[in-house]
Amino acid sequence: MLVHIPQILDAQEVAEFRRRLDAADWTDGRETVGPQGAQVKRNEQLPDASPLKAELGAAVLAALDRSPLFFAAALPLKILPPRFNRYAGGGHYGFHVDGAVMRMGDGRQLRSDVSCTLFLNDPDDYEGGELIISDTYGEHEVTLPAGDAIVYPSSSLHQVRPVTRGARLASFFWIQSLVRDDGQRRMLFELDATIQRLKAGGADEESVLQLTGMYHNLLRGWAET
Ligand code: NI
Repeated sequence: MLVHIPQILDAQEVAEFRRRLDAADWTDGRETVGPQGAQVKRNEQLPDASPLKAELGAAVLAALDRSPLFFAAALPLKILPPRFNRYAGGGHYGFHVDGAVMRMGDGRQLRSDVSCTLFLNDPDDYEGGELIISDTYGEHEVTLPAGDAIVYPSSSLHQVRPVTRGARLASFFWIQSLVRDDGQRRMLFELDATIQRLKAGGADEESVLQLTGMYHNLLRGWAET
């Protein structure tokens, strides 16, 4: 399931991120991949030990915390500290699948269920750089306005096409979800959205309550904490 989450960051926050990232020291993005990724990855990242990465990453996590749509789509249990990348001068990342288990800064492990890319500059700033996600429904091409995010299953093959003009800036990170299975997560997401629509439309309260109970009982059945 792909979910577009508009305006995780507002225009003012994006401008501040841009100002900080434009002045940052970047490093080869191959620092954080295994051998398969290293063959197809050509971009730059903020170094893992960079204080700027930690600071902006905390700001991303705080912004995600304010988003009910992100919560409903990802049902986060743990989130890897956000990373930041830049693609320019033909930079790209060929088709790959993300590692299944990652180590968090504190030594804990995280199973990557959901991947998230948060776009930090507008598509007008660059040419190319489309995120292509290949899932059971075919290939999806994603380019979003600055401040918007896409969440998608970490199990999907995906790539970033070469950036042939300008630079593309993004934050990216992985989520271990309370619900491991993408199909179950999708059903919960759709049920949640339906309940919200019924509530907003003034539907019968008892029916809404019953559906809300079903949502929580399904989540109780499927969640791993
Ligand atoms: Ni990836």
